[in-house]
Amino acid sequence: MLIDRDRLQERVRELGAAISRDYAGREPLLVGVLRGTAVFLADLLRAIDIHVVVDFIAVSSYGPSTHTSGVVRFLKDLDESIEGRDVILVEDIVDTGLTLRYILRNLRGRKPASLAICALLDKQARRLVDVEIQYKGFDIPDAFVVGYGLDYQQRYRNLPFICVLKPEVYGG
Ligand code: PRP
Repeated sequence: MLIDRDRLQERVRELGAAISRDYAGREPLLVGVLRGTAVFLADLLRAIDIHVVVDFIAVSSYGPSTHTSGVVRFLKDLDESIEGRDVILVEDIVDTGLTLRYILRNLRGRKPASLAICALLDKQARRLVDVEIQYKGFDIPDAFVVGYGLDYQQRYRNLPFICVLKPEVYGG
């Protein structure tokens, strides 16, 4: 067990409160990155008490699945235009940061009024590129984590907490 249900819920409430405060009087567009972010985003949305719009993108990295290549393919693009809007990109985890950098470059090209990042988990030990996370849930160690949306071979996303996968499960 790394982060239990109560700590998750409490931190997500705090992030929602911070976003509600910082964006008071505006209507941010939350962009969730499928699939892992679905669970976090569902809770985060309900912790925000100002008007908010939600949209999704789905991405996949090119190359071997165990390594992030940094080149990302959009499997599903936004439905909304983000030009002139206050966008908050919501991620479940930032690892090397390569996926995030690619998505940010793409979104910046669409001329949003502002672009912030909200990430539940930050695994800084594996970071390869600098990314600034405005709303961060937790710093985590360099371990294989699953649950609360995060998977191993598409399993464990439904766990209501975040835990570390035993190396014998993934052959590490
Ligand atoms: C995870 C996560 C980020 C990316 C982070 O997605 O949601 O998009 O990896 O890795 P990086 O910082 O090293 O680029 P994943 O590819 O596991 O897809 P999923 O959300 O569908 O599980």
